Amino acid sequence: IRQLVKQRRPPGFPPGPSPIPVIGNILSLVTEPHVFLKKQSEVHGQIFSLDLGGILTVVVNGFDCVRECLYNQGEVFCDRPSLPLFKKMTKMGGLLNCKFGKSWTEHRKLACNSFRHFGSRQKQFERKITEECMFFVDAIDEHKGKPFNPKHLVTNAVSNITNLIIFGQRFTYDDSNFQHMIEIFSENVELAVSSWAFLYNAFPWIEYVPFGKHKKLFRNAAEVYDFLHQVIEGFSQGRVPYEPRHYVDAYLDELEHNASDPLCSFSYENLIYSVGELIIAGTETTTNTLRWAMLYMALYPNIQERVHREIDSVLENGRTATLEDKLKMPYVEAVLHEVLRFCNIVPLGIFRATSQDTQVNGYSIPKGTMVITNLYSVHFDEKYWNDPGVFLPQRFLDGNGNFLRHDAFLPFSLGRRQCLGEQLAKMEMFLFFTTLMQRFHLQFPPGTIPTVTPKLGMTLQPKPYSICAVRRQQKQ
Ligand code: HEM
Repeated sequence: IRQLVKQRRPPGFPPGPSPIPVIGNILSLVTEPHVFLKKQSEVHGQIFSLDLGGILTVVVNGFDCVRECLYNQGEVFCDRPSLPLFKKMTKMGGLLNCKFGKSWTEHRKLACNSFRHFGSRQKQFERKITEECMFFVDAIDEHKGKPFNPKHLVTNAVSNITNLIIFGQRFTYDDSNFQHMIEIFSENVELAVSSWAFLYNAFPWIEYVPFGKHKKLFRNAAEVYDFLHQVIEGFSQGRVPYEPRHYVDAYLDELEHNASDPLCSFSYENLIYSVGELIIAGTETTTNTLRWAMLYMALYPNIQERVHREIDSVLENGRTATLEDKLKMPYVEAVLHEVLRFCNIVPLGIFRATSQDTQVNGYSIPKGTMVITNLYSVHFDEKYWNDPGVFLPQRFLDGNGNFLRHDAFLPFSLGRRQCLGEQLAKMEMFLFFTTLMQRFHLQFPPGTIPTVTPKLGMTLQPKPYSICAVRRQQKQ
């Protein structure tokens, strides 16, 4: 009976598909949920509701409605839902899943400052990214044009940029402990939106059921936190107070500085959670974008050729790309933007919650309601995009070939919780992609064409594929 009472929609709440008893609409999130939810919005309206086993949820679709919630009502749609899974994993602390309030503000500020201080503000940071790009293309070269799966190399190269900020150092591509940590962490990103996870959120007592994917999730998390604990210990050796060398040092300074404040949110536990979240949020997303970009280059040789032509004309005599070249390469920019739009790296954003009662499109939404932002429905919004189902980089160019911005482009989401790594991700994507394309022609092994159907999870990634990177020019 309690379950049935829990499932009833409050007065004025948005309508939605009929739930089945007890588990509600959980099963509707099993296959391509972003596509299913967009279709449902065509029936029930841009904002509609779901019952995820008693957890009342609203789904926000289309650019107009997403902007209304995340931007116009930015102070309302800025919390994270207190789901049992998140409570168990990070106690609603850390940064990414932290409840909106003092703790989130303090952690976000520290991370943003560190990203600026140890990253973009340092002139030598760009040089370090370029160095990593070289390790990356050299490692690809070792395959000598033979088929290989680029997933591990891209993951290692990309995560090293975040590692530089967090730990002040990179990990070598054969560091199997680090690789294993990233692997099981990204497995968790997938499991976190599996139907098992939703069932756990609705019925936390299934924790005591001796089988199921949630068990794997908890085992992985424990292993990841254990590894991070050791790594943090290692990289904080030799720390001089108030002379931080990286994010971990800066965090420990805050911890020490506020030691006597009982309300202070900095803690060793929150440090581990934040480090983990920054690593995975920065790695999984940027890696997937580059893996999709490589796949689409091999799939569309004419687009690849135009990328090659632009790169060759800007980088005379094979010189190394710098961030300044970005403005001179509108087609490369257009390709990377179209990959972000078309491939929908984080299709449903990261679940949000309302921080107070509110009204949207005439519907009442109580404080604490879970909110799913369907970013895929923004990128495929027919009101703003012609033929959204076609991969067409030109849509980001004007008649003169200059880069053209679009409003309905939100791969990094919007508002108070929008991605804090956007600038870093853009630097990385441009430098890795141009360095790669400057040197190689990408093609599939003869007679093979991989599927473009994504592997589902919190992020969308290509299914494993093999590719041949054939050298275009001599080493400079
Ligand atoms: C949040 C996308 C790269 C760190 C997010 C969100 C999205 C997103 C959609 C959810 C925001 C919301 O709640 O609405 C992406 C994409 C990336 C990328 C597409 C690359 C192409 C990065 C990088 C970092 C990063 C490089 C840092 C190293 C974070 C963090 C949050 C976040 C910490 C949580 C922010 C908060 O809750 O305050 N990202 N991201 N991301 N991202 Fe990214």
